[in-house]
Amino acid sequence: MLVQEYYKSRGQLIEKALDDYLAPADQYPTELHQAMRYSVKSDGKRLRPLFFLATYEMLLGRKNINRLERILPAAVALEFVHTASLIHDDLPSVDNSDERRGKPSCHIKFGEATAILAGDALITKAIEVLTEIKNRNQALKCIAILTKAISTRGMIGGQAVDIISVNKKININVLRYIHYKKTGSLLQASTELACALYDAEENITITLGNFALNLGLAYQIVDDILDEVGSFEVLGKHPGGDLKNNKATYPSLIGLEKSKKQAEKLIRDSYNMIKNMRNNDIMLEFVNMIKERLP
Ligand code: IPE
Ligand code: IPE
Ligand code: MG
Ligand code: MG
Ligand code: MG
Repeated sequence: MLVQEYYKSRGQLIEKALDDYLAPADQYPTELHQAMRYSVKSDGKRLRPLFFLATYEMLLGRKNINRLERILPAAVALEFVHTASLIHDDLPSVDNSDERRGKPSCHIKFGEATAILAGDALITKAIEVLTEIKNRNQALKCIAILTKAISTRGMIGGQAVDIISVNKKININVLRYIHYKKTGSLLQASTELACALYDAEENITITLGNFALNLGLAYQIVDDILDEVGSFEVLGKHPGGDLKNNKATYPSLIGLEKSKKQAEKLIRDSYNMIKNMRNNDIMLEFVNMIKERLP
């Protein structure tokens, strides 16, 4: 199967699953359900659910779309949490960003209060969705993995340090912490969820988790670079927000050229971490897609 075909078919599967798990827009309270749908069903790249499915099918050793139905709740949960993080990230008190995924941000369209609640509801819904995994042991493991990734030791912790670092001169270790946590955590959860649902051995789980964390750091550095020199088409919003907010980013700390070199090196390292694994064609292409975002 061609990789393009793979990502197209899995992308369609994810879109349908997201639709199935979101409450209808006309369900009371309608404003809230509309806001949740508006943000989830917009033009996201679906990187985390795709990364999750690619990991699972790499472990499985073959690509069979019929085998994925059982694990779709975890794909949906990842995208719900990610979308919630974007809704909250855009709020006036955080990054104050009016655009997201090529459209007005959730709080611009629905107001701040509804945007806060839509984010809260999506995170809660993600956990509820995970309880639908039939194997109880795996369901519990998945909940433990995702809640840890969201927590103060994960994404929320990273966002907290991101916010308090505005207008401050921080060192590269703190910035690396921010990026690992705010972005790496959810990518790491993507491979860990796949490993849990496959009952993979611990050493595989750790190796793939480290690979994902490394790639997450690279991804956030690329995002920082794009915020300086990217386009609306690639970012889904106008660039320049980080500079305006005086955010701590890789380019602001070490410059554009060094940041590109860092990202390239991390992407190369990620590639090397999985290059000898069996059935890795889809994964290698995933790494390549991130590399191609580099301007
Ligand atoms: C944006 O994530 C936030 C970062 C972690 C850089 P994505 O680049 O995956 O955004 P969507 O989901 O495609 O909108
Ligand atoms: C976002 O980082 C990370 C999370 C939402 C957890 P950014 O603030 O750089 O993401 P964008 O640039 O708004 O997409
Ligand atoms: Mg932010
Ligand atoms: Mg932001
Ligand atoms: Mg950014």
